[in-house]
Amino acid sequence: MTRKIILDCDPGHDDAIAMILAAGNPAIDLLGITTVGGNQTLSKVTHNTLSVARVARMSDVPVHAGCARPLVREVEVAEGIHGDSGLDGVELPEPISQIGSRHAVDYIIDTIMEHEPGTVTLVPTGPLTNIALAVRKEPRIAERVQEVVLMGGGYHTGNWSATAEFNIIVDPEAAHIVFNEKWPLTMVGLDLTHQALATPEVEEKIKAIGSECSEFVLGLFAFFRKAYKEAQGFEHPPVHDPCTVAYLIDPSIVTTQKVPLDVELRGELTLGMTVADFRAPAPEGCTTQVAVDLDHERFWNLVIQAIEAVETR
Ligand code: BDR
Ligand code: CA
Repeated sequence: MTRKIILDCDPGHDDAIAMILAAGNPAIDLLGITTVGGNQTLSKVTHNTLSVARVARMSDVPVHAGCARPLVREVEVAEGIHGDSGLDGVELPEPISQIGSRHAVDYIIDTIMEHEPGTVTLVPTGPLTNIALAVRKEPRIAERVQEVVLMGGGYHTGNWSATAEFNIIVDPEAAHIVFNEKWPLTMVGLDLTHQALATPEVEEKIKAIGSECSEFVLGLFAFFRKAYKEAQGFEHPPVHDPCTVAYLIDPSIVTTQKVPLDVELRGELTLGMTVADFRAPAPEGCTTQVAVDLDHERFWNLVIQAIEAVETR
């Protein structure tokens, strides 16, 4: 059975890998991609999405642009990690597809409402602005989606502050809305994604593919490696966003734990922290869970297979 997903993203080096994994694995039916201002401005990340789509031969997948800024706060981009373009380290090919005419929020609502209940999964890998607005505009999507599997947050560390992760702290009000809806929500946070390291062994395997897409990915990783070393002291870069898609392809690659979650909106040191309450077994009816452990080898095998597979799309 394939999983129908909408990828809501802000490419972004690791968002690009999430796109390729979603396009290159037969277990995923990528209905569409929506973009949100995050790693770079909305216009840059939307252009990047179309360029990656060309490299990965997925220009047939509809792309709809969404919100340019967070619900309440000013725009904050991650230039130190993703560069001026949002995808520094590679030459971006001219897109061959167009941005869809609908706003991302309307595309998300329409797509979920047009499909059978419980058949569409939302996969946000950027700030949660589009998703929050969509559920406020059409609250019925909360009971109609299959689940929400997002990259963001962390239960024991942050990366943009000591306690908060980038996607959450950029638009904490949106995250608060999304985390407090009654849809099943899996938080694939830093606890998990810091295990998804692009090691030299992984890069060697990707190099062996020898395609346009594999060269593109290696260019992304080279920039990401340097940026993560300088900004956060990582030996090998953590490739966060595709962990969400890998979990949907094969849930056994990621162990999870049910736990109540909420997002801090007032803390002086903890704004945007995703707070997990581990004090007792999760109560009956708890709809939230966190990703805990990643099978590194099987995760990267999926990514490598997808890079190979997009060549035949
Ligand atoms: C998240 O922030 C972005 O920089 C990445 O694309 C990822 O979604 C990691 O904190
Ligand atoms: Ca992202």
